[in-house]
Amino acid sequence: MRIVVTRALPPATLAPLTELGELWVSPHDRPLTAEELCAAVAGADAIVTMLNDRIDESVLTAAGSQLRVVANTAVGYDNLDVPAIARHGAVATNTPGVLVDATADLTMALLLDVTRRVTEGDRLVRSGEAWSWDIGFMLGAGLQQKQLGIIGMGHIGRAVAQRAAAFGMSIVYHARREHDGDTGRRVALDELLATSDVVSLHCPLTADTRHLIDASALRRMKAGSYLVNTARGPIVDENALVEALAGGVIAGAALDVYEYEPDVHPGLRTLPNAVLAPHLGSATVETRTRMAELAVENVVQTLTGGGPITPIAVPSR
Ligand code: DGY
Repeated sequence: MRIVVTRALPPATLAPLTELGELWVSPHDRPLTAEELCAAVAGADAIVTMLNDRIDESVLTAAGSQLRVVANTAVGYDNLDVPAIARHGAVATNTPGVLVDATADLTMALLLDVTRRVTEGDRLVRSGEAWSWDIGFMLGAGLQQKQLGIIGMGHIGRAVAQRAAAFGMSIVYHARREHDGDTGRRVALDELLATSDVVSLHCPLTADTRHLIDASALRRMKAGSYLVNTARGPIVDENALVEALAGGVIAGAALDVYEYEPDVHPGLRTLPNAVLAPHLGSATVETRTRMAELAVENVVQTLTGGGPITPIAVPSR
């Protein structure tokens, strides 16, 4: 068996793969180029991918008909052409569940940062500029009795709802289906945008959600509200967001993901009311290790006949 891992994973997590056959791990400290990816996967029975590897027809053809599994080391899988993987006789897997808490924690960190201007204050202190406490100095927005609007109420959305409720926020959400329990009230997107003090994105990137937050959606958001995105960059039209932030249409945005990641819109970098993190949602030692372990388990289970642990359903077209 030949197993290809497109970027280094914690070495201990790779041990089960070495027992299966020939293991190739990319030696590069960067994503593979499309050409490098096609060359690397030739003859692979399994490919362990990262969220920045695009797995499409050309990569699958380059891999060959023996390919059995594409194991994404991420819960999001907008980088995989899942129907094409199925057509090529392989299964696609992802890493759901293991990064819920880490991503929800990071969402709250960004939410608090942008509403309380932590990074903006950090920049001020580091600049050496004179400052002193006064009653109106660098005021932000409190969260208590404010409303959080969650778009996409999967595991991460619900974990954010629990945390935000503990901070005294009320929750509304927009999702395809109703959720039982006390995780908030399901509302239409328009109501969520118009009434929420903070809007947080937790939906997958699909054809339906690409640019869901465009100029029109931003205009429909409540005056003085904030946007947090720890889901996928292209859900937000970054040009429109820069204009909305610069023009005071919304008060601020905290982003962990970018439309053209890893490139960041130059306008965002200069806006004081934008908090910018480099895709850190799942970035804890424990979570990243568990993600790697689950991706590897999916390969082992598939190649040894047990069946993948977390297969991605092939969408019906
Ligand atoms: C995921 O798993 O989709 C996350 O974006 C990784 O941080």
